[in-house]
Amino acid sequence: MILLRIFTAVLVLSWASAATDPDSARTVPELISSRGYECQAHQVVTSDGYILTVHRVVNAKFSGQSVKPIILNHGLLSSAGDFLINSPGGGAGDSDEVGNNLGFELAKRGYDVWLANNRGNKYSLNHTSLTSKQRKFWDFSFDEMAEYDLPAVIDHVLNITGFETVSYVGHSQGTSIMFALLSTQPKYNKLVKPFISLAPVTTVIWATANVRLLAYEDALIKFFEIKGGPFLPDKVLSALGKVGCAAAPPVSNYICENILFFILGGWDSPQLNATRVPVYVSQDPAGTSSKNMIHWAQGIRQFTFSKFDYGLIGNLKKYGKPIPPEYDVSKITNENMAFITALNDGLADPLDVQLLRERLRVKLIHDERVPYPLFNHLDFIWGKDSGKYVNQVVLDILKKTADNQ
Ligand SMILES: *[C@@H]1O[C@H](CO)[C@@H](O)[C@H](O)[C@H]1NC(C)=O
Ligand SMILES: *[C@@H]1O[C@H](CO)[C@@H](O)[C@H](O)[C@H]1NC(C)=O
Ligand SMILES: *[C@@H]1O[C@H](CO)[C@@H](O)[C@H](O)[C@H]1NC(C)=O
Repeated sequence: MILLRIFTAVLVLSWASAATDPDSARTVPELISSRGYECQAHQVVTSDGYILTVHRVVNAKFSGQSVKPIILNHGLLSSAGDFLINSPGGGAGDSDEVGNNLGFELAKRGYDVWLANNRGNKYSLNHTSLTSKQRKFWDFSFDEMAEYDLPAVIDHVLNITGFETVSYVGHSQGTSIMFALLSTQPKYNKLVKPFISLAPVTTVIWATANVRLLAYEDALIKFFEIKGGPFLPDKVLSALGKVGCAAAPPVSNYICENILFFILGGWDSPQLNATRVPVYVSQDPAGTSSKNMIHWAQGIRQFTFSKFDYGLIGNLKKYGKPIPPEYDVSKITNENMAFITALNDGLADPLDVQLLRERLRVKLIHDERVPYPLFNHLDFIWGKDSGKYVNQVVLDILKKTADNQ
C-alpha cells in the first residue's frame, strides 16, 4: 500500500525540476569547507574490521590551541550530515546568534568537533576483509555499533587530541548505543563528559503508530532486503526523494513524509522548512543494515532494550540463554548525563523516556523539555527552531560542565 503510493507519486512527479539549494549537492566534507572550515576525514578501524569515517571540523581560528573535543553521533539511517545541513548559514564568520547547524555552532565557538558515521551508512562502507557487496558485511545491528564502533571512535579522538575525556551529543540511536556501551563497558563512564541525549531512545514501548508499522509490515522490510543485507539503499531513496521533494509544497510534504518521515518518526511538523527538504533527503537516509531495522522492530514488539533476538536456538548459541540479554541501564555510573526531550516525539516517547529516568541510578545534570509542544523527533535535527530550542541548551550544558573538567 505504502509502496504503491510512493511509486505512483514518483511517476506523477517525474517532471519535477531539480533542487537548487547548493547544499543539496554537497557531501559532508563539501558542506564543511563551504562554511569556511577545514574538514579532516579520519578512517577509524574497529576491532572487528569495519573502517569508519569520522569527519572532523577544524576552525583555523583556534589552530594551535587546545580545544575540547566533542563527538556528535547521528540517529538511525542518518550520518554526520545531520549536524551540518539544517540551515544555509553557520559559517565561521557568521553572527553570534545560535544557529541551526550544531556542528558549525560548536566549531565556531572553539570546540573540536568530530562527527561519527556508524557502520553501514554511506560514509562507513569499508572493511579490512569484507566488501559491502557481501552479505556478511551487513550482519550487524546497533549492538555492534555500541560494542565496537563507539569505543573505536572515542579511543581515536582521545588518542589524537590527548584529552582525558570527550564530550558527546547523540541523537536518537546515537543515544541508544551510548546507553548500551555505558551499561556494558564500564570504563567509558569515566571517559565521556558530558553525555547529552537529544531524544534519548532505549525502550520503544510507546513508539507511535507510524513507527510501529515498521515492526508489523514485514513485507516492507522484506521488500528493501531483496538485494541482500542493506536496508533502504540510499541511492534508491534519495532518488525518490529528489524527484518527489523538489516539487512545490504541499505536494512535496506529502511525498517526503510518506517516504522518509514515515520511517523516521516525524510527521506533519510545523517546524519543517518544506523548501529545504531536498537538502535533507540529499543526506538521509544514509543507510544501515536490514538486521538493524529488524532489531528495532524487535524492540517495539518485545518492549525491552535488549540485544538482537536470534530465536531460541540462536540465542542459546550466542548468549547461552533462551532470550537475549537486556541492556541494564541501572549499571551506568556516568554522572554527567543530560537529556533534551520533546512532547510530540514519536520515537523517544515521553513515557519511554520516563521509564529510562526511573531505571537510571545516576542523577541527570540537566533535564530539559523543549517548550514548544509540537516539537518532534526529527525537529531536533531539522526543526526551524532547533538553534533556539536545542543547540542553545547544548551550549549551556557544555559551559556548565566545563568548570569541573
Ligand atoms: C573506502 O575506501 C576507498 C579506498 O580506500 C575510498 O576511496 C572510499 O572513499 C572509502 N569509502 C567509504 C565509504 O569510506
Ligand atoms: C594512538 O596514536 C598513535 C599514533 O599517534 C598510534 O600509534 C596508536 O596505535 C594509537 N593508539 C590507539 C589505541 O589508537
Ligand atoms: C528554508 O530553506 C531554504 C532553502 O534551503 C533556505 O533558503 C531558507 O533559509 C530556510 N529557512 C530557514 C528558516 O532556515
